[in-house]
Parts: sequence; C-alpha cells; structure tokens
Amino acid sequence: LDNGLMRTPPMGWMSWERFHCNIDCENDPKNCISENLFRGMADRLAEDGWKEMGYDHVMIDDCWSSMLRDKDGRLQPDPQRFPGGIAKLARYLHNRGLKLGIYGDLGTHTCGGYPGTTLDKIETDAQMFASWGVDFLKLDGCYSNEEEQQKGYPLMSKALNATGRPIGYSCSWPAYRGGLLPSVNYTLLGEICNLWRNYDDIQDSWDSVQEITDWFFDNQEILQPGRWNDPDMPVYMDQSRSQMALWAIMAAPLIMSNNLRTLNHGLYTKFTVYSPFLCLYVTLFFLQKRSHIEVYWRPLSQSASALVFLSRRQDMPYHYHTSLAKLNYTAGSYKAYDVFTGKTLSGLSATTEFTVSIDPSGVVMWYVYPRMHYEHPQDDVYKV
Ligand code: DGJ
Repeated sequence: LDNGLMRTPPMGWMSWERFHCNIDCENDPKNCISENLFRGMADRLAEDGWKEMGYDHVMIDDCWSSMLRDKDGRLQPDPQRFPGGIAKLARYLHNRGLKLGIYGDLGTHTCGGYPGTTLDKIETDAQMFASWGVDFLKLDGCYSNEEEQQKGYPLMSKALNATGRPIGYSCSWPAYRGGLLPSVNYTLLGEICNLWRNYDDIQDSWDSVQEITDWFFDNQEILQPGRWNDPDMPVYMDQSRSQMALWAIMAAPLIMSNNLRTLNHGLYTKFTVYSPFLCLYVTLFFLQKRSHIEVYWRPLSQSASALVFLSRRQDMPYHYHTSLAKLNYTAGSYKAYDVFTGKTLSGLSATTEFTVSIDPSGVVMWYVYPRMHYEHPQDDVYKV
C-alpha cells in the first residue's frame, strides 16, 4: 500500500499473544485489557530503549471495546477499562514518540465477540479511528464470508485513506482464505494493505514457531516479497534467538507480544543491524538441508546478505561444515558478522571451508558482506 508508511517491517508491541482477552480487571488489574496495560507497555518501550531500536507501535488487539456501539452507531471503548478513552491514550503515546494501533474485525463480531465492522460501518469506523488519532489498524476477519471480505478489505483501505490521516493497515484477509493461491490475491493485497497475516495464530510454544516457520518457508515463492507477510508475533522463549533469527530473515514485522515489565531486551537489539539493509522485493532462499540443519539466505542491500543456520536437532550441538561457495556465493573475499556473539569472522574467501556449531533448536546467524580493500587486517576480530 503506497501510503508512505512502513517501508521497513513494522515493529512494536501487541497485546494478543500474552494477554488475550483478559478483561478481569477486578482480580487481575495489571494484566487485563485496559488503558493501564497499554500505558504501562508504552512506558516500557519509551524508557527501556526499545523505541530507539525501532519498536515504536503499541497495538491494542481484541476485547477493547464496549459490547455496544454508541447511539450514533460508533464504536466506543469499554468505559470501565478505558475510562480516559482512546484519544487520550493516543495522546499519551504520541507524547512519548510512540504510535497507537487498534484492532477491528470485518464481520458481525470480533473473534472475541465484540462489535464487528460490517460493510455499512466501514466508513464510520475509519473516521472514528482517525478522529482518535490512531496510527495503525489490524483488521481481523472473524464472522465474515468470502464475498464480504472481497469487498470489505479494499473498502477499508479507501476509507482509511479518505480520513487524511496516515494509518498503517494490516489485513488478516489471507489468513481467513488459507493463505495460498488462488484464493488469495497477493498482488491486490500489496496494493491495499501494508502488511497481512497469512497463517494461524502463534502460540507460546516452540512447536508453534516451527510450524509457522515451515509454512512460510514452504510457500516463499507465492508470498509476495516487497510487502510484509506477517507470520504473527515474536514471543521469544528459550529458543528466542532462533525465532528472532528466523523472523528477521523472513523480513517479518517485529510486533512482540510479551511481558515487557519482566523482559531482558538484550536479544532484541541484535536484529536491528539488518533492518536498514532489508530490500523490498527480494525473497528468501532456502539453500541446504543436511543432518537436520537448514540454511537460509536473504540478499540485502550493498551486496550484503544474511545467513541463518537452523538446527532442528534435539540431541546436541552440531558441527556443520560448509563454505560460502557451497552456499552459492560467488568468488571473492568476505567478512561475516555473527549477530549473536558480536564477533566478525574475516579472511573468508568463497572457497574457505568453515564449521559452525549450532545448538539443538538453536541458530547461528551471520551478516555477510564483501571485504573492502581499504580495511586494515587488524580490524578483524578473528580469522578462520
Ligand atoms: C484472531 C487473530 O488472528 C489473532 O491475532 C487475534 O487478533 C484474535 N483473533 C483476537 O480475537
């Protein structure tokens, strides 16, 4: 969607995976879907260094609204849980240099049973969101049929544009049509949405991460590069590095759903080395699979590239032998920056044989770039 927004994968925080539809503010005031939760997470993003890394959106997911529209047919937040209203929450975020995302559902109801946006309500809701100062809309697709989706998703794109406010637009449409051709028209999606959910919701388990990874990697060719396919939220558990590396090499939006109050964010910083180099309109390549080790490659700008070595093993660290030439690199001299150790490997020619040690369900992620002639050999941290 050419609205000038989200030229690199959007980043931020979203409530769904961690807080779902917890509306029990009486017994669980810290974790219920309320303005306090979003204000609190905004404080974490603004004060703990996340914003500087690019995590600049706070996104409300389902269960924020009142069960009824107001007398003029407009959506309204639940008065107990959002007493200050959405506009005030948006101001709170804007004052901290952050953006507010909101959730809607094309259909009679949201998946959680709150009022949905039927076709006749699209303009009203777009206007309402814009008047509140909302910067992003996730439009879910529960309780609508194929025909309504065919009309509704493009209509909302127009309606958002007509508000005059730049609003990032995430479409869940493909996820409701199986994510594949011919039911999904990725060319059209690229024109009307900034990003889209293609597949199932992520769960807090490594199985879920692997299943999503398989689906995205198996279907790379049809997932239109150049816009943001959204494999859902990074949840970052024990295998958090692996998910981080996989999501990064997929050029996925990095919209986290976790408890920012208790999270150590060292890991999240690592990915940011890539984002300036991400190119639109390039795809991800699967290079090799051997001994349950998979190798993925993505070309980046300025002749750089990213490599991920993923272990699907469950036994022990595995020593994987290969060379850049075996991974389709052309002759030349390269350097490889190991994203997680922060070390640079130099003296790599395409034919140099090297070994990477990959932990079970772990990854090694490299940022590979051509060695410049003017570099002094002592710049190198270590050599193969
Ligand atoms: C289904 C979506 O895929 C989830 O991400 C979340 O938005 C829920 N609906 C909310 O009900």
